[in-house]
Amino acid sequence: MILVTGGAGFIGGNFVLDWLAGSNEPVINLDKLTYAGNLDTLKSVQGDARHHFIQGDIGDRTLVDALLSQHRPRAVINFAAESHVDRSIHGPGEFIQTNVLGIFNLLESVRGYWSNLSATEQAAFRFLHVSTDEVYGTLRASDPAFAETNRYEPNSPYSASKAASDHLVRAWHHTYGLPVLTTNCSNNYGPYHFPEKLIPLIILNALAGKTLPIYGDGQQIRDWLFVKDHCSAIRRVLEAGCCGETYNVGGWNEKTNLEVVQTICALLDELRPRQDGRAYAAQISFVADRPGHDRRYAIDAGKLQRELGWKPAETFESGIRKTVQWYLDNHDWIANVTSGAYRDWINTQYGA
Ligand code: NAD
Ligand code: DAU
Repeated sequence: MILVTGGAGFIGGNFVLDWLAGSNEPVINLDKLTYAGNLDTLKSVQGDARHHFIQGDIGDRTLVDALLSQHRPRAVINFAAESHVDRSIHGPGEFIQTNVLGIFNLLESVRGYWSNLSATEQAAFRFLHVSTDEVYGTLRASDPAFAETNRYEPNSPYSASKAASDHLVRAWHHTYGLPVLTTNCSNNYGPYHFPEKLIPLIILNALAGKTLPIYGDGQQIRDWLFVKDHCSAIRRVLEAGCCGETYNVGGWNEKTNLEVVQTICALLDELRPRQDGRAYAAQISFVADRPGHDRRYAIDAGKLQRELGWKPAETFESGIRKTVQWYLDNHDWIANVTSGAYRDWINTQYGA
């Protein structure tokens, strides 16, 4: 079996659902259920004997040691993290706690478990760490896309904490021989995305008749990858990646934020037109920029394609259409995540 951490979040949740749809290998799912963790995402595998959910912290050595010795997984896939850049600007403490100290404790638990396996089990074991392209910093318009050899230049408390986690993972391989793999992925989007992030926030605000906040001039560029493509890349790296290597994962879809928002507005105009006949784009509003806002991310995912034969299945056009449709079709999931604590965050970030 495999142990997944953060499997009630956006990407981890999609990963668990896709894994169980394609394999009978059981999953132990360890998640703290912070504001970003959501058991509704896992509703379809509730009661499935192949899925064991445990609420807990990756930094809880006693709990993680016990889970490892009880279930004896062949791999640990770490999604658990604090993941939202704006929250890291308001309060970096939790990011250091989970993304740095939590990873340190998780690595120590895994090292203890791994060092007591038989030689054959040790050789087959993998610790896969899911990370981000943001560790590489920001690009100018004319710069080539981030390659695995780019130096780390993180600019936000979030990306600095993820860079620290990547360094710890690397060191545990170099010093202790732990068989690790690291993936650095660009911006994901798709079903079950918590609506603090740009794409789901824009879809839900548009439908609610609220303003569509674009930071600064909206000309910042992100590379967008449909979440199920990220999941397939992780499965491929787990299966065939070389220990100690890092793999960039991306969608070859560079878009400005304004383009992304305009695309969502056009899809909603088609799929759920406003009752007053006006275009959703009329709700766009340029607001104060994010402090330290990275201008451009772009991923060169050539290594993953050349060495492991992976490439994304979705274009941005096909993936964003599926995503908008998913949010139109899933009222219950949305109603649950947009209650209470979510409203407090929206008031903190955008004002009432
Ligand atoms: P998310 O915020 O939606 O989910 C994170 C999950 O981790 C939540 O379920 C939360 O409850 C859990 N968690 C947080 N702290 C924990 C702890 N101490 N112990 C156990 N569980 C804990 O994040 P996401 O968007 O799904 O991102 C998953 C991973 O992928 C993160 O490591 C993130 O850095 C990375 N990543 C995200 C993106 C993206 O676009 N969302 C892109 C590249 C990489
Ligand atoms: O690049 C990978 C990263 O992508 C992941 O590591 C992070 O976990 C994930 O949150 C995401 O980070 P971003 O900061 O790029 O994503 P976000 O959706 O928050 O913002 C995308 C872009 O849109 C960014 O340039 C900021 C802008 N934005 C965001 C929000 C929430 C707006 O203009 N308005 C908004 O209201």
